[in-house]
Amino acid sequence: MLSTQDTAIIPHEWYNVVPDLPRQLPPPVDRDEKNSSIQLLNRILPKTILKQEFTFQRYTKIPEEVQEIYAQIGRPTPLFRANGLEKALDYKGKILVKYEGATITGSHKINTAIPQAFYTRDEGSTGVVTETGAGQWGTATTVAASMAGITSKIFMVKVSFNQKPLRKNIMELYGGEIVPSPSTETEFGRQVLAKAPDHPGTLGIAISEAVEYALEKDLKYMLGSVFNSVLTHQSVIGLESEKQLEILGEEPDVMIGCVGGGSNFGGFVFPLMKKFKEAKIFASTASEVPKFTKGEYKYDYVDTAKILPSIKMYTLGSDFVPEKIYAGGLRYHGAAPSISMLVNSGKIKSSDVTESSVIDALKLFARSQGIVAAPESGHAIATAIEYARANGNSRETILVNVSGHGLLDMSIFQR
Ligand SMILES: Cc1ncc(COP(=O)(O)O)c(C=O)c1O
Repeated sequence: MLSTQDTAIIPHEWYNVVPDLPRQLPPPVDRDEKNSSIQLLNRILPKTILKQEFTFQRYTKIPEEVQEIYAQIGRPTPLFRANGLEKALDYKGKILVKYEGATITGSHKINTAIPQAFYTRDEGSTGVVTETGAGQWGTATTVAASMAGITSKIFMVKVSFNQKPLRKNIMELYGGEIVPSPSTETEFGRQVLAKAPDHPGTLGIAISEAVEYALEKDLKYMLGSVFNSVLTHQSVIGLESEKQLEILGEEPDVMIGCVGGGSNFGGFVFPLMKKFKEAKIFASTASEVPKFTKGEYKYDYVDTAKILPSIKMYTLGSDFVPEKIYAGGLRYHGAAPSISMLVNSGKIKSSDVTESSVIDALKLFARSQGIVAAPESGHAIATAIEYARANGNSRETILVNVSGHGLLDMSIFQR
């Protein structure tokens, strides 16, 4: 009999939600006829990623080498019953946790960094470049690049670079080169600094810098979130959960995850949504970045310099400068088009969470379960706590995805 942590649970195929969406996904749109985004993406992305980005195929085989590395980095990640939290809340139903903090880099980001780095190597490129907010994506990129034997360069949002010095150390330890963004290394960074020398940086600016740098140095750009191919790689979270729930004999009534660009949420919820059609689904976002409640569902740019294409999503505007909250990974102005479509159609509900309730949730989770969760994941935990408190006598099973640990984010508690 399989245990919930047997490597046999690691899927052999990724799941792509696109063919199962209620409507056709609106395609990316070019800025103007002269600047074709497809041509641009062709230059900066490995061909395999580009193909996965636009496929209507439901399942894609995970290369064997990637499956082996998934086992090496800690997959399958645990799915367990959070007895301590249930007790602390006096909740009569069940709370189940899928825990992505158990991977070697401490978050789900490695699930897509590995295939992207290996496709880059297989197609003959020597290095990758990307942006990072809180540092989790940058950390995953640097270790994946080193495992693939290629170089990595990371533009890290300046406010997070200053808040989280240990992140720089770990990314360097893994073999990456890290620069705070806005930087003087790109034309766009220099333009931003000329207007605002103390600019705290945003993910939109860091993406623009990374893409400009990739184009100039003929490197490949790693997609951290938002894009379909990334959500497809992240489907390992939901596919594993499906098998683990089967082993435990559980069925979720409620599913909760946090949304920055949407990769952990989409990867978790989409494979399960097919099977548990009636489940209520909540996307937790930072109330300081209320993309679903105060944003608009429209075409907008992925990055601030408008180098990457415009996509249809919930957005606060590609020039939105969020507050300096600790959950750097949730400061992004938009959300993946597939998730945005399902929020717009009412299938996914959104829940805005304040930073102070996140801190309370992180404390309660640490004291009742012993896990120090990432501030981003603290949003999902806070939504789960709020739901359990509001429905204390219900027997519903709440499944929450905890996307990362917060052991390198301890400075949040120093304040
Ligand atoms: C631990 C963690 N959770 C969630 C996120 C949000 O990203 P996404 O919405 O792509 O999962 C991040 C992004 O940096 C993160 O580091």
